[in-house]
Amino acid sequence: MEPINSLFAGIAALNAFGLVATRLTLRRASGLFTDAAGRALAMLPDMRPVRDAGRFLAAWLRAPLRVAAVAPSGRALSRLMTAELSGSTGPVVELGPGTGSFTRAMIANGVRQADIALIEYGPEFSALLAERFPHAQIRCMDAANLGTVDLFAGRLFGAVVSGLPLLSMPRRQVVAILKGCFERLEPEGALYQFTYGPRCPVPKSMLDRLGLEAERIGGTLANIPPAAVYRIRRRRQETHGAGSA
Ligand SMILES: C[S@@+](CC[C@H](N)C(=O)[O-])C[C@H]1O[C@@H](n2cnc3c(N)ncnc32)[C@H](O)[C@@H]1O
Repeated sequence: MEPINSLFAGIAALNAFGLVATRLTLRRASGLFTDAAGRALAMLPDMRPVRDAGRFLAAWLRAPLRVAAVAPSGRALSRLMTAELSGSTGPVVELGPGTGSFTRAMIANGVRQADIALIEYGPEFSALLAERFPHAQIRCMDAANLGTVDLFAGRLFGAVVSGLPLLSMPRRQVVAILKGCFERLEPEGALYQFTYGPRCPVPKSMLDRLGLEAERIGGTLANIPPAAVYRIRRRRQETHGAGSA
């Protein structure tokens, strides 16, 4: 071989060797990086609450009247709203679940996903709920139309949990929602409703007209903003005379 050709062959061999070595080093480095990134991600705190807060704020900016809160309900309010629910409550309907704060709390109390129907008007939330609660029923609809759907093959509801912004809804819509719920609630069933206001968000005159009564069952300052929870039920007959307390 000519000396000049030998020189080129040597350079080519060195280049090939360098390329292979560089590739191996990069592959090893990227493997180490992926492992380290995976370990670091596993050590990070659960980012779901942060992402939910972002989603909620974005939804509120798009539809402030419908969403009516800048952040999802916190744990204390979720526990209060679902404190009386358990695996033996029967079918539960949740109105306006948003990102699912109350849904998670009722599941933690033993309510099965198959016994839950989520009625959410916002498409951004109903798609998320379908991912999160694949065994629950999700309906993307106005809660005022509840009376038009058969959710549990004719079974009555054991309870209704409502995160709806009743104070920003027209009276007619609130009446339709309450009628839709109480037509399908078991005789002893209740609707749980929270409010940021100082009194029950269903006015007394409306409760009277529908034969309902409301009782404040608790409140929490550990929520943004602080909130109170009301239990709304059919009015009980007052008993007079012998036997009554
Ligand atoms: C105040 S947010 C409460 C969300 C969630 N329950 C929470 O506490 O974090 C009100 C929710 O009700 C939904 N909503 C408002 N009007 C509705 C309607 N007519 N029917 C069904 N959902 C409605 C909104 O899209 C939103 O998810």
